[in-house]
Amino acid sequence: MSLLDMIQNSGQQMLPDHYKSIPVQEMETRVRKIKESLGSKVFIPGHHYQKDEVIQFADVTGDSLQLAQVSAKNSKAEYIVFCGVHFMAETADILTGDGQKVILPDMRAGCSMADMANIDQTERGWEEMQQAVGDTIIPLTYVNSTAAIKSFVGKNGGATVTSSNAKKMLEWAFTQKERILFLPDQHLGRNTAYDLGIPLDQMAVWDPILERFEYDGDLDKIRVILWKGHCSVHENFTIGNVEDIRTSDPEVNIIVHPECSREVVALSDYAGSTKYIIEKISNAEPGTKWAVGTEMNLVNRLTKQHSDKKVFSLNPQMCPCLTMNRIDLPHLLWTMETIEKGDVLNQIKVDSEISKWAKVALERMLERV
Ligand code: 13P
Ligand code: SF4
Repeated sequence: MSLLDMIQNSGQQMLPDHYKSIPVQEMETRVRKIKESLGSKVFIPGHHYQKDEVIQFADVTGDSLQLAQVSAKNSKAEYIVFCGVHFMAETADILTGDGQKVILPDMRAGCSMADMANIDQTERGWEEMQQAVGDTIIPLTYVNSTAAIKSFVGKNGGATVTSSNAKKMLEWAFTQKERILFLPDQHLGRNTAYDLGIPLDQMAVWDPILERFEYDGDLDKIRVILWKGHCSVHENFTIGNVEDIRTSDPEVNIIVHPECSREVVALSDYAGSTKYIIEKISNAEPGTKWAVGTEMNLVNRLTKQHSDKKVFSLNPQMCPCLTMNRIDLPHLLWTMETIEKGDVLNQIKVDSEISKWAKVALERMLERV
């Protein structure tokens, strides 16, 4: 089921109009007051790609892995108001207790990459792959995927990965089987496998729409099957952007997220997860210059936090992730006021059978990082 279908079937409620005209300062004061009065009953995790207007209220900020870890540890909060996107809130629901309610302030906060792989396509593709190369494949899925796909992966002996542990997880997967199916981000899969020394001609792409492999040479030699999906934010960083920086100022360090294409990663100075990018820039010498290939809310925050360095986007035309931006101050206030009244809106509840196997896939990852 696509995110749009889920939204249409979920009975989700839309933000009442009057929230759109409340002055910002008043919204901030109201959120702060409710948060104080609810205390530890409410927990707000916030992904680094969220807007500042929301991040200021987060109890903890982090990348996908950190937020999965803190969600798994928090057994106290009755309400987890997840400031991130749909797949992250599903993960939080899977990893938290039955009595805890995970809420996504706006159900339209999906992820275009996660939408590029659905469970029907995955099951059909898996069958084709088994026919082509037999029982030689272990599936790994980036956490940026639906709970149903995580569940499929768990059932078939595989695990989830995040951008900060992908290398470790691929190494583990190769101890289990000869080949890996990596969903749904071909770039993270390709960049990570390449770093592990797997040549590009030993990687094939699986096209879920045309239901066929794309590769050169011999299928028997293929060790990594990359699902044909990508992040619509990170694919906007191009070779042209890198060349422009190199020409205009050779002193600039170029650092990118591994959701960028192989070509962009290869031409950059550094590549790594959101956490890696934050740490690298934080630890850099004053006066250094950084062109950053990742989501714009984070780049803007790094620019503000490091005024002793020059930090800017690798692509001067870059926009924030539109679905991350769905979570804004009016939606956060609406969510908090609803909780204050004892109601729950936009709860993310993963089906128990799906949750059982998705948890297996997540735990295989969490016990290794
Ligand atoms: P990380 O948080 O793992 O760096 O992933 C980035 C991302 O695109 C989240 O949607
Ligand atoms: Fe999805 Fe990319 Fe947005 Fe992350 S940045 S939520 S991967 S579209």
